[in-house]
Amino acid sequence: MKAEILALLRERADYVSGQELCGHFGVSRTAVWKAINQLKKEGYRIKAVQNKGYHLLPEEAVFGKNEIESRLQTKWAGRNLSFYESINSTNIRAKLEAEDGAPEGTLVVADMQTAGRGRRGRGWESPAGRNVYFTLVVKPSFAPDRASMLTLVMALAVNRAIRKVTGISSAIKWPNDLVAEGRKVCGMLTEMSVERDYIHYIVIGVGINVAKQEFPEEIAGTAAALEEFTGSPINRAELVAEVMSAFEEYYETFCRTADLSGLTQEYNESLVNSGRTVRVLDPKGEFCGTAKGINELGELLVEREDGTTEAIYAGEVSVRGVYGYV
Ligand code: BTN
Repeated sequence: MKAEILALLRERADYVSGQELCGHFGVSRTAVWKAINQLKKEGYRIKAVQNKGYHLLPEEAVFGKNEIESRLQTKWAGRNLSFYESINSTNIRAKLEAEDGAPEGTLVVADMQTAGRGRRGRGWESPAGRNVYFTLVVKPSFAPDRASMLTLVMALAVNRAIRKVTGISSAIKWPNDLVAEGRKVCGMLTEMSVERDYIHYIVIGVGINVAKQEFPEEIAGTAAALEEFTGSPINRAELVAEVMSAFEEYYETFCRTADLSGLTQEYNESLVNSGRTVRVLDPKGEFCGTAKGINELGELLVEREDGTTEAIYAGEVSVRGVYGYV
């Protein structure tokens, strides 16, 4: 109810009467009053005036369960939501919840992680009050060899959300980093539990750098935060809610064919590598070529100088620009 009260108050520029809230939720005045008080404790400034009702004063961005839920517009993505002020890793927590039978669309969000995990065994710096860390649980019925493509689906979703909420022209660096002006603003870590040819669950973890911060030395040159480009504060809850809307839509398209055929065009339009010379860091031998976009399996098509085209599978290799990260 608290999230819905918030959404209602936010919608109205004017006061919403206590009577209207009671009628809307079918509860007593005391119950409404209690919910309002709890919201105030969470940091919301709500003005109460006799005979007029309640009015939400301009918010200092509160990042929490109610704020995210009050902005969610999805059918299932993010609808079973848990929020932590601090947790070891949202991926670890999401896997535990999935093991316990959490439904598809379960979302774990944190303000801070004490053991944030990156790809290739690296860590992911996760300070409080600055960024977005979340993990979404999905339980698809397609075969496990399709699963890695879901990270590309999430990349599309985060890219759309960043563009919509912040106006920044972000782009995807294949397969699933998001960049703004050539610097990484978001990373993803997908993990799954499989039994023979059956997927128990997949967790897709996303870290988005939002507020300006000092990055660890190893990534200081290549990482950036969204607010460096907007110059104004970004509402993290709105960002999470928009990612959920976009992911829900793209995921449903993906599941129809269990490949990226319905999303290839949009992905390629968002791909920063398209038409650029890339260095393919293949353990079997590095080579350079021109990136041409992805195919329906999410492989990057790279044209070599001799005119032949290679389809690169993300699991084994990564790509860099010839002059740097992109
Ligand atoms: C990368 O190395 O680029 C992937 C980074 C993934 C970080 C996110 S933050 C939320 C989720 N929980 C984790 O421990 N990792 C992912």
